[in-house]
Amino acid sequence: MRQRKIGLVGAGNIGGTLAHMIALENWGAVAVVDIAEGVAQGKALDLSQAGSLSGYDSPIRAGNDYSLLEGADAIVVTAGVPRKPGMSRDDLVEVNTKITKQVGENIKKHAPDAFVVMVTNPLDAMVWVMQHVSGLPPHKVVGMAGVLDSARFCHFLSEALGVSHQDIQTMVMGGHGDTMVPLVRYTTVSGVPLPQCISEGMITEKQVDAIIERTRKGGAEIVALLGSGSAFYAPAVSALSMVKSYLFDEKRLLPCAAWLQGDYGIKDIYAGVPVIIGKEGVEKIVSLELNEQEKKQFDQSVTAVKDITAAAKKILAGL
Ligand code: NAI
Ligand code: 2OP
Repeated sequence: MRQRKIGLVGAGNIGGTLAHMIALENWGAVAVVDIAEGVAQGKALDLSQAGSLSGYDSPIRAGNDYSLLEGADAIVVTAGVPRKPGMSRDDLVEVNTKITKQVGENIKKHAPDAFVVMVTNPLDAMVWVMQHVSGLPPHKVVGMAGVLDSARFCHFLSEALGVSHQDIQTMVMGGHGDTMVPLVRYTTVSGVPLPQCISEGMITEKQVDAIIERTRKGGAEIVALLGSGSAFYAPAVSALSMVKSYLFDEKRLLPCAAWLQGDYGIKDIYAGVPVIIGKEGVEKIVSLELNEQEKKQFDQSVTAVKDITAAAKKILAGL
């Protein structure tokens, strides 16, 4: 039987964490590509040696050559530059558009049948660049952001409510930026809608508002604490859940940056919406009924996504 292959482009904090988690899961061969001399190779060797202790035998190949991606079933792209304190995700557009172009061209050449999960920021624009440059079908190219933003929303609520993460379901839509839309009406605690938790005094509206704000700034909070680099454990687990749903046809309903063709009244743009991921990639975009305020916030967020995507298109056209 053919061995499954998972490609990772970028062997930095997120790529390295992903390589470790995928090896521990024993999903198949891992191929790690990074432009920095020795980084991918060093991490792959370290991880391979850890296999003798953790009990995995997955081959972990690494190098600077994109041909390592040949025949990959799924690829997670984290190649790029992360934020520094004080920088917004959008400040990365120029440098990361150039990098994403290079990576996209190589995915087209070496792994045109792969399912690609884009992670590089500014996410919603970089996933557009990836799809455009690689020419892969839009349902095979998705962006990771909503899963992470929803996990942050879930964690802050879990702390405030004093209940397990396991019992909280959240949904964050829109772009991966300060305009993202954490949906209170679509958040439940073991089936109990969050608005009901508020009316029953389990949490106050003021606390929920503060949590929404903290979720929107969740990435910047970690950037400021780390001093160098950005969050990577939760981003890696988020990307992993998307890859897993594809590889194992789990049909999970996850908020992802997906190609919109009239869904939510939006056309020709990647933005965060709930989707079902299965063996075909994005198999369905789920249309939630949004009230007037939610729709207004979502539209504002999509406007921000359109602006940053337009900036990336302009940079790409000049390359
Ligand atoms: P990192 O700096 O640790 O790793 C990035 C790696 O990409 C480096 O090893 C670098 O050498 C490599 N690289 C640069 N150009 C390359 C190229 N042309 N080909 C192959 N590799 C290349 O960064 P980290 O923390 O892993 O983050 C990666 C990206 O993910 C950043 O853009 C960051 O802003 C973004 N991010 C996105 C999140 C999301 O929710 N979508 C969450 C967290 C981070
Ligand atoms: C995050 O949200 C920086 O986008 C990255 O952690």
